[in-house]
Amino acid sequence: MHETKPTRLVVGITGATGTIFGVRLLQMLHGSGVETHLVMSKWAARTLTHETEHTVKEVQGLATHNHRLGDQGAAISSGSFITLGMVIAPCSMRTLAAIAHGLGDNLIHRAADVILKERRKLVLVVRESPFNEIHLENMLKLSRMGVVILPPLPAFYNHPQNLDDIVNHITMRIIDQFDIHLDVMNRWDGVLSNERQARNEEG
Ligand SMILES: Cc1cc2nc3c(=O)[nH]c(=O)nc-3n(C[C@H](O)[C@H](O)[C@H](O)COP(=O)(O)O)c2cc1C
Repeated sequence: MHETKPTRLVVGITGATGTIFGVRLLQMLHGSGVETHLVMSKWAARTLTHETEHTVKEVQGLATHNHRLGDQGAAISSGSFITLGMVIAPCSMRTLAAIAHGLGDNLIHRAADVILKERRKLVLVVRESPFNEIHLENMLKLSRMGVVILPPLPAFYNHPQNLDDIVNHITMRIIDQFDIHLDVMNRWDGVLSNERQARNEEG
């Protein structure tokens, strides 16, 4: 018998604003050796075409495998299908609630439920603002179960020049969660630039 190393990642895209995060994730993983299994919700498709230049077909073309939202018989619906885990980017409050309450009425909810029962890694790129108490309670409940709650909040220490820089940096940090480290952007190295450091020390 030989050991097999699973390099499969389940990717869900739901109907919160920020579908570009799911797209960028697939773009970055494309050709990286990670086998991606994509499921998009109905509202992800609507939001994607509303807020980006991408078509659903194009996005599906970036994934290794595509699964239909209604296909509860897909491989990712079973715990015996070994994966690194699952990321939902972006994750709507509806999908967050469905996962927090164990509903499995579509393949995104079911696949996330499988990840939880198998104690694998689940990363939720939750997007809403402001949050109400229901959202916060759902996030806390899942966080206590080990789910990574990763809202797509920009960092400024890496001096983003445009929106693409912000999207790339956040997406790189999402991928980091799975111990896949793609150096696509400047990371914080703990050192302020000399000029800024001098200014800080003066002030
Ligand atoms: C343009 C647009 C932006 C939306 N943004 C958000 C959002 O940021 N967060 C959220 O929870 N729902 C958002 N929604 C609402 C969700 O799409 C809606 O709740 C939907 O039922 C989510 O279903 P899903 O989780 O199956 O994709 C947005 C809808 C549209 C049309």
